Amino acid sequence: MTSADSARIPRHIAIVMDGNGRWAKLRHRPRTFGHNAGRKAVRTVVEGCLREGVKVLTLFAFSSENWQRPQDEVGALMELFVRALDKEVDELHGNGVRIRFVGDLGTFENGLRQRMTAAMSRTAGNDALHLNIAVSYGGRWDIVQAARKAAEAVARGEIRAEEIDEQLLGHWMCLADLPPLDLFIRTGGECRVSNFLLWQLAYAELHFTDTLWPDFNQDSLKSAIEDYARRERRFGKTGEQVARKA
Ligand code: IPE
Ligand code: IPE
Ligand code: MG
Repeated sequence: MTSADSARIPRHIAIVMDGNGRWAKLRHRPRTFGHNAGRKAVRTVVEGCLREGVKVLTLFAFSSENWQRPQDEVGALMELFVRALDKEVDELHGNGVRIRFVGDLGTFENGLRQRMTAAMSRTAGNDALHLNIAVSYGGRWDIVQAARKAAEAVARGEIRAEEIDEQLLGHWMCLADLPPLDLFIRTGGECRVSNFLLWQLAYAELHFTDTLWPDFNQDSLKSAIEDYARRERRFGKTGEQVARKA
């Protein structure tokens, strides 16, 4: 692969995996049937990212707002997370995937939280792909927890309030130690962010597709990456400035 080719592969992809409920409804099945079917698509994108050389994949699995869904759906999703963790971690670990859960993990019951922590420590030495799973995550929550850490550092006298700038606050946001987000994908046809990575989205390229998450396959990932490769990322500069640098 030439360096020009590799520049066209996003280093960090984030996906709002939406449309499971509608996928199930089309089949006259309960919503949880759709959530279960979505697991295959997760496996497919992980394999695709490993193959294409994407370094970081961040998946939105459960938002801060999803706690408001009917109790039986929330319960079924929690069971699905437990089952997926028990079944998938071995293979992910074997493929060199580092797993990280990001979000307000304190909201989960002990058994699930311990499984998450165990998967994170077990895979902590891996580097082929960083797989971040956003659970009980909200972009506003992320900004608040970073602001709280900044306030605590000021209270301890480690920094002065005037020293807080984008770089310093950004350092406390989730995923700050990983390459910046290049490509945001949302399946399921809605063109909204739904409180996903608000801070990290600042300069990401956005790709929306009508494909429902359980139908998302290697071709869908390929078209999203091709769409990304056609974009000119200007970061506030002019097209001429960007062309001169290339
Ligand atoms: C996304 O699919 C999965 C979660 C939010 C957990 P949905 O369950 O939102 O599916 P639709 O949008 O109702 O089709
Ligand atoms: C966003 O999907 C959250 C996840 C995919 C985990 P939602 O289905 O919850 O988003 P809204 O409600 O349509 O905005
Ligand atoms: Mg939805």
